[in-house]
Amino acid sequence: MKTSAPPKHSKIVILDFGSQYTQVIARRIRELQVYSEVVSFDLPAAEIKNLHPNGIILSGGPASVYDKGAPQIDPEIFSLGIPVLGICYGLMQMAHHLGGRVVFTGRREYGAGMLHITNGSQLFDGLGNQLDVWNSHGDEVTALPKGFLAAGRTESSDFAAVEDRQRKLYGLQFHPEVAHTPRGKEILQNFVYHICHCAMDWTMGSFIEEACERVRRQVGDEKVVLGLSGGVDSSVTAALLHKAIGDQLTCIFVNNGLLRAREEEIVQRVFGENFHVRLKYVDATERFLTALKGVTDPEQKRKVIGNEFIAVFQHATEELLAQDRQNNARKLAAASPSGGGHGHYKFLAQGTLYPDVIESVSIGGNPAAVIKSHHNVGGLPEKMHFELVEPVRQLFKDEVRQVGLQLGLPKEIVYRQPFPGPGLAVRILGEVTPERLSILREADTIVQSEMKASDWYYRVWQSFAVLLPVRSVGVMGDQRTYDNTIVLRIVESQDGMTADWVRLPYELLARISSRISNEVKGVNRVCFDISSKPPSTIEWE
Ligand code: XMP
Repeated sequence: MKTSAPPKHSKIVILDFGSQYTQVIARRIRELQVYSEVVSFDLPAAEIKNLHPNGIILSGGPASVYDKGAPQIDPEIFSLGIPVLGICYGLMQMAHHLGGRVVFTGRREYGAGMLHITNGSQLFDGLGNQLDVWNSHGDEVTALPKGFLAAGRTESSDFAAVEDRQRKLYGLQFHPEVAHTPRGKEILQNFVYHICHCAMDWTMGSFIEEACERVRRQVGDEKVVLGLSGGVDSSVTAALLHKAIGDQLTCIFVNNGLLRAREEEIVQRVFGENFHVRLKYVDATERFLTALKGVTDPEQKRKVIGNEFIAVFQHATEELLAQDRQNNARKLAAASPSGGGHGHYKFLAQGTLYPDVIESVSIGGNPAAVIKSHHNVGGLPEKMHFELVEPVRQLFKDEVRQVGLQLGLPKEIVYRQPFPGPGLAVRILGEVTPERLSILREADTIVQSEMKASDWYYRVWQSFAVLLPVRSVGVMGDQRTYDNTIVLRIVESQDGMTADWVRLPYELLARISSRISNEVKGVNRVCFDISSKPPSTIEWE
């Protein structure tokens, strides 16, 4: 597993027992400026020791310790002399393996509760006598292991918080990581700073320096190619790699003809002109639109676009190679040093983020991972025998944004909303034609500009227009019209997995609607999508 941070950092290792909140725990610790890393629940104690953590947190999880095949910890972990905090199922694991008694109550306690703090545990320093907490558990501890004391109780449990001060083992039946435990952050702070003695040494400034060193070590004097989409992740990856290896990086930006208005201009301006990144711009509009002719099935559209992308990308790297060979030949003729590299692109850079890494280490069958797989244009590394460079794979999205800002990327890029790889094609229901693209692009531009002008753009997850294959009757002046329908899709979400439609002010909706029907030729009706995800998806295709 390639997740180790330099040992000079303080570090908390989180064992993932499959809780929906594991990532939240990891983020809360990072917010305390302490590096956190999620590993699988069954990582052996010896390997955990090798990671040199200052502390270990055991996440919650949906299982009961008595379930057949329930995830079980390596009990040696409790003898490493490293502080451990078990949360929910993590506490049950601790009690179960250390000789306490855990019973399956048969009912799941779920919701708000009140914790009465009973014996001044260091975990609750500065928190008074009682706390609002959030419960979500099925098992319950009914007898403590030897050496443990109760530290807090709730109405339904005498052992809602427990500790063995000697061995620095702590357990909470409730979830300190969620917002419904309002002072949970302070509990985690007490654990991380005062019990584990972590320093606040995880900052994006130090990350940038270390990431650059790591990339230089990995890449040596080889060349790296990156598919730049203009999205946050690939943009920050490009800026970071450029800082680390300069012209050993070449970015390829493919205009697939399915971009938002002026997108290609923005990317070329920011990366080519401002950052002086080696940027190869490929206008493949014709090729994509030809391949999409007559295609109406959503999955087929994605397949066509994915395949075209790989072909175009492959061709672009071959052109780069040919160009490099020519340059090298010229340099050799002038008897100058080779300028680095062996003439081929050994590495492909990708803006993989930590949530994707966590999903792949988590216990199997995480449905989120399955839903996401179709979203990336896969196949490039295998097809072209690249090795991967993934400099931001340790980071959460908010951390990537901070890195982007520190590297000098404009807000326009750093805070942009997600935009799908297949672009406007999945927002045009039915066939993608130049005329229909042009209608959607104009409508989309109006949505973006009104959202930005009102500052709502930065408060929502995504806001965009969709073009339906539906025409309806309208009236314009004295004329009857029979024109297209635009839908506004504006949603809030944490991670794109679930979403809700945003209750935008009526005045803003009215302005967007009237501008679209007045300014976009061919549209006479604007609708507002009031579906959440699930059951709907965010995109319409
Ligand atoms: P859905 O529509 O599945 O979208 O609710 C969830 C999030 O993923 C984005 N999305 C995509 N991103 N390629 C991508 O890179 C895709 O094919 C794709 N489809 C959806 C969507 O915009 C939303 O943020």
